[in-house]
Amino acid sequence: MNESRRDYKTVWTGLSGSMEDAYLFVSGYTDEEKFHSASEDTLGILLETVGLREADVVLEIGCGVGRVGTVISPFVKEWIGCDVSPNMLRHARHRLIGLDNVRFQEISGYDLKPIADASVDVVYTTVVFMHLEEWDRYAYVLEALRVLRPGGRFYCDNMNLASDEGWAVFEEGLKLIRAKRPPQISKFSTVPEFETYLQRAGFTDIHVATRPMWVYGWGTKPRAVRA
Ligand SMILES: C[S@@+](CC[C@H](N)C(=O)[O-])C[C@H]1O[C@@H](n2cnc3c(N)ncnc32)[C@H](O)[C@@H]1O
Repeated sequence: MNESRRDYKTVWTGLSGSMEDAYLFVSGYTDEEKFHSASEDTLGILLETVGLREADVVLEIGCGVGRVGTVISPFVKEWIGCDVSPNMLRHARHRLIGLDNVRFQEISGYDLKPIADASVDVVYTTVVFMHLEEWDRYAYVLEALRVLRPGGRFYCDNMNLASDEGWAVFEEGLKLIRAKRPPQISKFSTVPEFETYLQRAGFTDIHVATRPMWVYGWGTKPRAVRA
C-alpha cells in the first residue's frame, strides 16, 4: 500500500490548489457543462434512492467543489458540504456563492466529529469511497448512522469491481501502478462489501444495486437504534 494514501488531508489538499486542478481530480475534466450534466445524474440517483424532501438537512461527505451541492440545495432545507481538503472547500464556497442554505465543514478525513448526533436527515457520499481504505469507508458508514436522525437515510457509491466496466478500469490501474502508484488511485467495491457495511452498522431497509460502472447502496437509520 502507498503509505501516504491514508494521509487524506495532505493528499487532497495538494491535489486541489487551483480550481482547475480541483475540477480535474473531482471529475477528470474541467468542462462546466459536462460537470453540470454529471451533477444532474447524481441528483437523479439520490432522488431514486434516498429521496430528497423540502424539510431535509442533507450532508455530503467529500463534497469537493460542490458539484452536487449546487443541484441539491434548491430541493432541501439545508445542504452541508464536508471535505477533508480546505482547498476543495474554498473552491466550493466560491462556486456556491449566493446560495443561502448551504454551509461547509472541514473534517479530519476519518470522521464527522464537528456534526452533532441525530442532526441530519440524509447523508450521502459519492465518488469518494474509491479513494479510501476499507476501514475508513466503514468508519464513515458508522458516522453517518450517528449523525442521522432516526428514520434518516444514507447513500454511498463506488466503482464496481465485479462489472465488465469496473474491471476494465481496474486493469488500467494495473498498468498505472507498475509505473507509479498515486496515493489517490481508485480502489473498487462490490455488492457484498456494501451489504456488509450497511448491515453491520445497523441500517435497515438496505438496498444495494448496480449500474454498469457503479455499485451503490442505501439504507435507513432505525427509529429505535439498538444499544
Ligand atoms: C473525486 S472527488 C468527489 C467530490 C464530490 N463528491 C463530487 O462527486 O463531485 C473526492 C473528494 O473526496 C475528498 N476526500 C478524499 N478523502 C477524504 C476523506 N478521507 N474524508 C473526506 N473527504 C475526502 C476529496 O478532497 C475530494 O473532494
